[in-house]
Amino acid sequence: MEIILSGYGKMGQLIEKRALEKGHEIVAVIDPVKDGGVFRSVGDFEKKHGTGNYVALDFSAPGAAVQNIKDFAERKIPLVVGTTGWYDKLDELSAFVESKQSSMLWASNFSLGVNLFYRVAAYCAAMIDPYNEYDAGGYEIHHNQKADSPSGTAKTLAEIVLKNMKRKTKTVWDKLDRPPKPDELHFASLRVGAEPGVHGLIFDSSADNIEIRHTARNREGLVYGAIVAAEWLEKAAREGKRGVFTMDDVLGRMNA
Ligand SMILES: NC(=O)c1ccc[n+]([C@@H]2O[C@H](COP(=O)([O-])OP(=O)(O)OC[C@H]3O[C@@H](n4cnc5c(N)ncnc54)[C@H](O)[C@@H]3O)[C@@H](O)[C@H]2O)c1
Repeated sequence: MEIILSGYGKMGQLIEKRALEKGHEIVAVIDPVKDGGVFRSVGDFEKKHGTGNYVALDFSAPGAAVQNIKDFAERKIPLVVGTTGWYDKLDELSAFVESKQSSMLWASNFSLGVNLFYRVAAYCAAMIDPYNEYDAGGYEIHHNQKADSPSGTAKTLAEIVLKNMKRKTKTVWDKLDRPPKPDELHFASLRVGAEPGVHGLIFDSSADNIEIRHTARNREGLVYGAIVAAEWLEKAAREGKRGVFTMDDVLGRMNA
């Protein structure tokens, strides 16, 4: 697989390492901030390399993702999008990618464990919903360099709870200067130290507390999942399958 890395920070550099170990080739790195052998934009890359059967992975910055998605779609380069913080434009960008007959696979979290956790969360929320004595809430913790909050994973988890608990109709994020209403799911974010990522859901009654939590030990699970997603997307493109995909397509299992 010939890979273009868009964003050469913590994730981009680890993806490079693991992809090379798997026998893939890194044809280019695009990052407007980093020096040395790095292209500033997709356009700069195209001037040197022209077109080819590339697959790109974007782990850049929330403010950069929208333009990068458009730039790769314009050139019909299949793109795995790991960058978070742009999902308010998901419908618009999905339509754009489809209009260009390109392909994109996005996930708020590429780790296999988190994608399994989504299914556990869906099951718990649906099971607890009829028992009104249990309220529900959520939290997420990440390192103090993370640029956006809440995390994309937290947003996905909150959507899963709303979909599976009829009693909860909306999520309220972070600081509340009033008690949450019964139909509100309160979800908090904490930024501290070097934490790679914790996501939890709490189901709490006056008698007891049920908590489910996913804790990432490092970024390896994310990197592995992103490379597997890129392999899946590249194969799909070669077989003529284009469009917008998620990890559900890669895992080929039920939708949470
Ligand atoms: N979906 C997932 O599974 C997942 C996992 C980890 C991180 N992320 C997200 O991925 C993004 C990057 O994470 P990170 O930890 O590598 O961040 P990082 O800050 O270490 O690296 C980001 C890199 O992107 C570069 N960049 C900035 N603007 C760019 C542009 N226009 N084009 C290309 N590169 C650009 C920066 O110079 C930097 O080198 C963040 O949004 C983060 O939340 C998602």
